[in-house]
Amino acid sequence: MTETRIALISGANRGIGAATAQRLFEAGWSLSLGMRNPAFPDWAKGIAGAEERIHLAPYDAADPESATIWAAGAMARFDRIDALVANAGIMIPKTVIEIEDDEMAQLLEINVQGPRRLAAACWDALGASGKGRVIILGSLSGKRIKSARSGAYSVSKFAAVGLAHALRHTGFEAGIRATAVCPGFVATDMAMALTDRAATAMTDPKDLARVIEMLIELPNEASTAEFCVNCQLEESF
Ligand SMILES: NC(=O)c1ccc[n+]([C@@H]2O[C@H](COP(=O)([O-])OP(=O)(O)OC[C@H]3O[C@@H](n4cnc5c(N)ncnc54)[C@H](OP(=O)(O)O)[C@@H]3O)[C@@H](O)[C@H]2O)c1
Repeated sequence: MTETRIALISGANRGIGAATAQRLFEAGWSLSLGMRNPAFPDWAKGIAGAEERIHLAPYDAADPESATIWAAGAMARFDRIDALVANAGIMIPKTVIEIEDDEMAQLLEINVQGPRRLAAACWDALGASGKGRVIILGSLSGKRIKSARSGAYSVSKFAAVGLAHALRHTGFEAGIRATAVCPGFVATDMAMALTDRAATAMTDPKDLARVIEMLIELPNEASTAEFCVNCQLEESF
């Protein structure tokens, strides 16, 4: 078994997932990157040893078997999993009244079932070290309803935050710590499609990656259930 710690990151090809992958790699982690279309990351090209430390896996949150196949592939490659960053997610900007059944099912499938299946697939490996870590990308939309149009997405993100709490309870005795990371607008494709706010006035994905690294590195005795980050002033966030 390698001594280097291994992190699985879903949706690692762009946005918050890509920034987190780069940050953890630079901190010395080896990575298993799950993507719908696996491709070696641009930021790692030309770095000596990067190919040995980066495993690419096909991962589609909509495919119920995808998580177990990915986790098995990562174990075959590295024989350990120390952290899971369940980041892949989608936004459908519709109210809970106008959204169609199949769209609501898709939101719950990608934003809730996908992360839950990933945690389950990695669970035994995460427990093996006595200090496994799970980061669920929730959202401030999993803490409060910002607008009618974000309503359906918010329902899925409230569930994702609940998932993180449920995982924290389930894994605590085994030393697994689970955190819901809850950002407001982050300067990625997702947020750019939703608002005219300038990218420079949104949280930088690199700063969110710093937060995620910090949360993963905290000791078992500093369990952090939720971590909220905002680029603007709101009453409670
Ligand atoms: N940006 C924000 O303002 C913000 C705020 C709060 C929370 N979040 C959450 O943060 C996470 C990352 O968001 P982001 O801002 O980085 O969004 P993004 O730039 O839109 O990237 C989304 C990522 O999720 C992947 N993905 C989508 N559907 C997938 C599926 N079925 N299977 C596997 N991967 C899938 C995408 O892969 P493809 O390239 O294949 O589409 C992409 O890698 C999401 O959970 C999002 O809800 C974002």
